[in-house]
Amino acid sequence: MPSIATLALASLLAVQGASTSIHQGLALEKYIKTERAIALQGVLDNIGPNGAKVPGAGRGLVIASPSKVNPDYFYSWTRDAALTFKTIIDDFLFGNRALQPYIEDYIHSQAILQTVSNPSGTLLPNGAGLGEPKFTVNGSRFNGNWGRPQRDGPPLRAVALIQYSNYLISQGKRDRVKTEIWPVIANDLSYVGQYWNSTGFDLWEEVSGSSFFTTQNQYRSLVEGAALAKTIGVSCTGCSQAPQVLCFLQSYWNGKSITANFITGSHNRGGVDANTILGPIALFDAHAPCDSPTLQPCHPRSLANFKVFVDTFRNSTLYPINAGISQAKGIALGRYPEDTYYNGNPWYLITLGAAEFLYDAIASWDKSGSLTIDATSLPFFKDLYPLAREGTFTWYHPSYYLLQRLVRSYADSFVAIAQKHTPPNGMLAEQFLKSAPFTPTSAANLTWSFASFVSMTHRRDGHFPPSWVPRTGPLKPVVPSVCTPGGSVQGTYAPATAAGAPNVTAPCLSTVRFVLNATTYYGENVYVTGDGPTLGGWDLATAYPLLSSNYTAERPLWWADVPLDMPAGSATGKSVVTYKYARQQDCGRDWIVEEVERTVEVPACRTDGSGEVMAETDDAFVGEGGKPGGC
Ligand SMILES: *[C@@H]1O[C@H](CO)[C@@H](O)[C@H](O)[C@H]1NC(C)=O
Ligand SMILES: *[C@@H]1O[C@H](CO)[C@@H](O)[C@H](O)[C@H]1NC(C)=O
Ligand SMILES: *[C@@H]1O[C@H](CO)[C@@H](O)[C@H](O)[C@H]1NC(C)=O
Ligand SMILES: *[C@@H]1O[C@H](CO)[C@@H](O)[C@H](O)[C@H]1NC(C)=O
Ligand SMILES: *[C@@H]1O[C@H](CO)[C@@H](O)[C@H](O)[C@H]1NC(C)=O
Ligand SMILES: *[C@@H]1O[C@H](CO)[C@@H](O)[C@H](O)[C@H]1NC(C)=O
Ligand SMILES: *[C@@H]1O[C@H](CO)[C@@H](O)[C@H](O)[C@H]1NC(C)=O
Repeated sequence: MPSIATLALASLLAVQGASTSIHQGLALEKYIKTERAIALQGVLDNIGPNGAKVPGAGRGLVIASPSKVNPDYFYSWTRDAALTFKTIIDDFLFGNRALQPYIEDYIHSQAILQTVSNPSGTLLPNGAGLGEPKFTVNGSRFNGNWGRPQRDGPPLRAVALIQYSNYLISQGKRDRVKTEIWPVIANDLSYVGQYWNSTGFDLWEEVSGSSFFTTQNQYRSLVEGAALAKTIGVSCTGCSQAPQVLCFLQSYWNGKSITANFITGSHNRGGVDANTILGPIALFDAHAPCDSPTLQPCHPRSLANFKVFVDTFRNSTLYPINAGISQAKGIALGRYPEDTYYNGNPWYLITLGAAEFLYDAIASWDKSGSLTIDATSLPFFKDLYPLAREGTFTWYHPSYYLLQRLVRSYADSFVAIAQKHTPPNGMLAEQFLKSAPFTPTSAANLTWSFASFVSMTHRRDGHFPPSWVPRTGPLKPVVPSVCTPGGSVQGTYAPATAAGAPNVTAPCLSTVRFVLNATTYYGENVYVTGDGPTLGGWDLATAYPLLSSNYTAERPLWWADVPLDMPAGSATGKSVVTYKYARQQDCGRDWIVEEVERTVEVPACRTDGSGEVMAETDDAFVGEGGKPGGC
């Protein structure tokens, strides 16, 4: 029998192809060094107020992409911004002190954004407005039709701010954290504690239900939040929910892989989705044990799921771009196999995220000094090393070294895919075509793509974020024996005025159910426009979208329960609201607006945030119908 060391060498040579690997390796190192600088600048160019590519963006607001048409990503998303700042804060902690002003601007911008009333609701009295996914580039509300609420924004923002707060505390700035930053974090943690067990839209903004990525980050935020609260001597509303969130997190494992979403209503999804790769890298802690129920990248279930996810895209009918690539090599990765958005192409941030996932796993093994292969993770390892077997290998064992090298070279091969599809100017779009010519597509200069590149290089270079998974004590992750449904703690919410938030009070709301008969074609949308901020003050760009969820051929019904934010003085008696309906035509054509002016009488408004319907209309559209534009 050959010794394990001989096998190691033979296998390395077989996998890499000895003569080309050195050349390719050098080219990859050079690409990473050059692209890293471009990517960091790409991120900063998309942040207001001085970002070169986003004139008009507010201070501290991260714009998803400068692209304003096909697609229009010229908005600030809470999730993208938080993930971006998580990486910026990492880079700052690893020594890039020039980034501090950006972080300070971010804190300020988010304190204000928390108070902006929006179609998901308001900060006061119940925090519902924190679930709003996106805002305009100057931080004003976005009223358009959208998948809302999205419950990953608040926990991700809390995680980023907690990381920076812990740094400030290490610099003796505990009081500043307590008075200025904690109030922002506390709102987000209250939101997590109150709504983690309610449905919401996933990170791709497409399906409503529960999402692995969201649950995983919710858990992290509550644990870290509880630790920070203890350090600064305050209480954390909502953090007590952490064990139940952890319990729920375990239920996404289906015996073979992680089911990415529990979806409400009918759908065609098989459950394989990149959110199960992006979740583990967002909560990576190099010091957490690999069997931690937080589901780190090195967890056997995460590795098994990684293989299932990646193998789905090895199908060359689905992804011609991956034809002919061997099982031990990285490929181009997309969101989920049923994806039709832009025809369902590979994404840079997912392909790079897969590399980051593997660098994370290696770091965990290196920190603990051993690597365990069990029946669940064996298929993952066998792809890289057919002779792999179950067992625990300590760092001085030749198998440890062999496997570690193979996983690293596997990770590098995902980066090489991104390299192959990076244009000469280094700009990273959202996607690249799955079929020839494999060129970039969808939003250009996507902030999240650039941030994912920077984050990948951190892990590859051995720079790891501070540890957050407690090893002992009451916050140590322990899965409760029974998961209890209906988990929720009423949050406490207040504007973070010390960080610059306006001192808002609970709005006075009169909720009206707008009910309209309007026969429409597929692609046409209907809005209500009218008096006051909720109906957009007669500006069609900020009109309120109606739902077609109950539309049938027999009853062409459009409707919405609209919580009208009423002016002061409406609390004591009835008032009249003026409105009309507007049809938004497809293909970017002009709107069709009703010529009648309608009124509805509403009872005195309420500040308890109940959202109870107080008046209902019964309308039929007046004016011409729309016709498809045929684009
Ligand atoms: C993306 O960045 C490149 C390089 O700076 C620039 O030429 C291009 O116009 C940008 N695209 C958008 C949509 O801003
Ligand atoms: C902010 O942007 C919105 C939508 O683009 C616009 O209607 C509004 O006037 C802007 N507000 C300010 C203060 O610039
Ligand atoms: C709420 O939690 C229970 C128990 O973990 C779980 O069965 C249920 O699916 C959860 N629902 C949502 C919407 O999170
Ligand atoms: C490969 O992808 C095609 C196209 O999406 C699909 O019809 C087929 O079922 C896939 N094959 C396997 C083995 O999953
Ligand atoms: C905010 O307003 C409330 C009353 O609505 C007041 O009690 C509180 O002191 C104000 N806070 C600040 C910082 O001005
Ligand atoms: C639409 O359907 C939902 C769910 O069945 C129902 O709760 C709601 O009242 C309906 N809306 C109208 C205007 O009938
Ligand atoms: C809307 O359509 C329903 C069902 O056809 C009908 O009963 C109702 O009277 C219509 N409403 C108006 C205002 O025309």
